[in-house]
Amino acid sequence: MRQTPTIDPAEIRRQLAFCDQIRALLDQRPGQKVAFVDTYGCQQNEADSERLRGYLARMGYAFTDTEEGADLVLMNTCAIREHAEHRVFGNVGALSHTKRRHPGQLICLCGCMARQDHVAQRLRQSFPYVDLVFGPQLLWQFPQLLLEKLTTGKRVFATDDVPGAVAEGIPVVRQSTLKAWVSIMYGCNNFCTYCIVPYVRGRERSRQPEDILAEVRQLAQAGYKDITLLGQNVNSYGKDLGLAIDFAWLLEQINAIPGDFLIRFMTSHPKDAGARLFDAMAACEKVAPALHLPFQSGSSRVLRAMNRKYTREGYLALVDQLRARIPEIVLTSDVIVGFPGETQEDFEETMSLIEQVRYDALFTFLFSPRRGTPAEKLPDPMPKEQKSANFQRLLQRQNEISGEKHRQYIGKTCRCLVNGQGSDGLLTARTAGGRLVHLAADPGCVGTWRQVRITEASTWALFGELAE
Ligand code: SAH
Ligand code: SF4
Ligand code: F3S
Repeated sequence: MRQTPTIDPAEIRRQLAFCDQIRALLDQRPGQKVAFVDTYGCQQNEADSERLRGYLARMGYAFTDTEEGADLVLMNTCAIREHAEHRVFGNVGALSHTKRRHPGQLICLCGCMARQDHVAQRLRQSFPYVDLVFGPQLLWQFPQLLLEKLTTGKRVFATDDVPGAVAEGIPVVRQSTLKAWVSIMYGCNNFCTYCIVPYVRGRERSRQPEDILAEVRQLAQAGYKDITLLGQNVNSYGKDLGLAIDFAWLLEQINAIPGDFLIRFMTSHPKDAGARLFDAMAACEKVAPALHLPFQSGSSRVLRAMNRKYTREGYLALVDQLRARIPEIVLTSDVIVGFPGETQEDFEETMSLIEQVRYDALFTFLFSPRRGTPAEKLPDPMPKEQKSANFQRLLQRQNEISGEKHRQYIGKTCRCLVNGQGSDGLLTARTAGGRLVHLAADPGCVGTWRQVRITEASTWALFGELAE
């Protein structure tokens, strides 16, 4: 059994000492230093940014939400689709102007894009004002890398393909006092043929259960009410630990922690989901009645080409099994339109699958070729216009289904966590299943669970009032 590589706690203590050294350097110049952490991509990146903020706070930085006037800008990037990369390059380009107005501004770039050689090369050559670039596997070394930049004055590129590890003890500054991310594992071993994640995030590695449980216990004591466990495929949690434990076991352990909180998790790969997971979800009262179960395509032929390791029939059987155990489950999914070689018949199978399953919500993506993945090289004969037309049709039909599913809530009373106030003055809340509710109520309700009567519904949200 492969041992999960962990970073020696003494190493993290060294990084914290580097933070203190940076703080001493910054204190030589007058004024409070402010940092802007700009996060792209998935919740994994959101969670990573909270740790980067933890380090930055220890260095003495306060936080701002714009690059204008920031002493340090840290872009935590995403490489999942071309569009995400374009946005980042556009924004890096614009930073040349803010840096001119604010000489000495430190510009750092990390996250999944940083781990791609062609991106690092382009940053080296065309963006000379970017000071520090590091890949996701080196996040724990951020203080050391920044200190190197500050003391040598030279640009630092830490973008090599180093094996990933698990680092505990990095400080964290969370964005919310109600909702928290908890990474339970990092990386991915699945190599879906379209996907860049395994290349940029490295192999699957799980955190030790006692570290996860200690973090959740702390969150529960601090009053967090909505805790999301994160991993690219949480269902393979623990496989690398050599212990007789799995994700369902972890759910049960977390469920036993005292506190009034809800447990969510993402993402589940259908190949590893099944009765054991669904039973644990049904038995654990704190686990939200919600599952994000990406199907990617309704055609078994395309699923094979994607290396997804399940068939259309297998997926549908799984959904039946899930709904038999948890009838009220809120089911969401991801789908890719226009995978290379997808025919019109294949696409019709995707249409019929969403008809059959009737997801509460669906994240729809147009295939985007990623450099170095097998799908990049596959023949792709379907014209762009046809792919876009299919995409629009899928989107439209799903919007109708989402609207219909939302209308079924009207007249019902749901327990909701009130989490904030929107610009329209209405409060925002979430049902246990994760549906967004706009709530007409007193702002004093924020941070509490309330019984909410649903009065109206749209494609995207529910509207309601307090039932008591
Ligand atoms: N680990 C998760 C997915 C993370 S990426 C899982 O396996 O479910 C989130 C979604 O982005 C994927 O589910 C997929 O639908 C989409 N995606 C990934 N690579 C893509 C690509 N090259 N083009 C278009 N969509 C992609
Ligand atoms: Fe990408 Fe597949 Fe891994 Fe998800 S399971 S991150 S889609 S390779
Ligand atoms: Fe993007 Fe990396 Fe997440 S590529 S979707 S930020 S794992």
